[in-house]
Amino acid sequence: MTRPYNIGMIGYGFMGRAHSNAYANVAHYFDIEYQPVLKAVCARDGEKAKAFAAKWGYESVETDWKKLLTRKDIDAVDICTPNNLHKEIAIAAAQAGKAILCEKPLAMNAAEGEEMCQAVEKAGVANIVWYNYRRVPAVTFAKQIIDSGKLGKIFHYRANFLQDWTISADLPQGGQGLWRLDVAAAGSGVTGDLLAHCIDTAIWLNGGIGSVSAMTETFIKERKHNLTGKVEKVGIDDACAFLCRFTNGSLGLFESTRYARGHKALYTLEINGEKASIKWDLHDLHRLSYFDHRDEGPYRGWRSIHVTDGDHPYMGKWWVPGLAVGYETSFVHQVADFLGGLAKGKPAGPTFRDALETQKICDAVLASAKSGAWTKVG
Ligand SMILES: NC(=O)c1ccc[n+]([C@@H]2O[C@H](COP(=O)([O-])OP(=O)(O)OC[C@H]3O[C@@H](n4cnc5c(N)ncnc54)[C@H](O)[C@@H]3O)[C@@H](O)[C@H]2O)c1
Repeated sequence: MTRPYNIGMIGYGFMGRAHSNAYANVAHYFDIEYQPVLKAVCARDGEKAKAFAAKWGYESVETDWKKLLTRKDIDAVDICTPNNLHKEIAIAAAQAGKAILCEKPLAMNAAEGEEMCQAVEKAGVANIVWYNYRRVPAVTFAKQIIDSGKLGKIFHYRANFLQDWTISADLPQGGQGLWRLDVAAAGSGVTGDLLAHCIDTAIWLNGGIGSVSAMTETFIKERKHNLTGKVEKVGIDDACAFLCRFTNGSLGLFESTRYARGHKALYTLEINGEKASIKWDLHDLHRLSYFDHRDEGPYRGWRSIHVTDGDHPYMGKWWVPGLAVGYETSFVHQVADFLGGLAKGKPAGPTFRDALETQKICDAVLASAKSGAWTKVG
């Protein structure tokens, strides 16, 4: 039996498109009881929202998210707005009894995140945060390999997220499209935007992080602000690197920047264990590199597994073995897992509470960069 599940989405930018695509397509590939209905999209500009609704098939449009939350025909609210709006919308949505799918990072900082956790837990509403890289099939497969014990004791975890789009000093900060450079809207720079992804994947794959030692840099100190028209101080971190100790005894090394000329979205991770190692690279997202020391001596070497077979995570739902799927399917998988979990009474994670852990690590990273000292998490 299937039943409709009405989505009200707030914000129609990059993530609004990625999520809409996932809702529109998930039931074509996955057998799910709750079938998403694109009930309403909310944005401040009514005309643009109408055009978006027509393109993606939303039934209606709202221009005030508070009004959207009063609607009885909305089951779940999807928060696709800049970070400074996550807390207010999520708490109000929880109080209105709506399930919530919230974009990452959960909040501007851990204190806000804790309030959001309490709100959803008090209301008893289903909640999930869009740390979608967990559901890239090769990354999910990495989790299966680690959990099977094939790597043995883990010694090292290394991750990078490198971009190059803010190198020009002429780029303004703030407003549509550039809110990521405005600390008041983003909360932080690469730490909350990019490293948060690396941290979520890391703690999912390798367990908790106990302490961190970080450095950050803001290479361009002042930029024109799009909302005020004035040249203002830049409050975000343009680059961040940190060392950490995982609670399982392994050592972590993370780096993110928007100043790595030539790199657009190079998210890479590598894990070295006693018996085997794995590597993954977002630019080649359907491959997982695997080295196993137990292989027969002369044949030992890195193998590149094309994660497209029917017995790889999620892949049995797509095409035939050998055919790859892309970035957008990580969102489809997240919707499938969330709705599948709802039907079973156990919504999939990362929940707000899971994502709060990432937020605490981001806070510790920024505090350490400020003080110059090793800093305990949480
Ligand atoms: N999971 C991921 O991989 C991923 C990738 C990109 C962004 N994000 C996160 O998604 C969120 C949105 O990022 P984006 O890249 O889509 O940004 P974007 O700038 O492309 O879109 C933001 C949207 O929010 C809307 N908005 C702003 N204020 C609003 C308000 N008061 N009411 C209604 N709508 C409002 C804007 O009009 C716009 O449509 C951020 O939290 C970001 O960190 C996650």
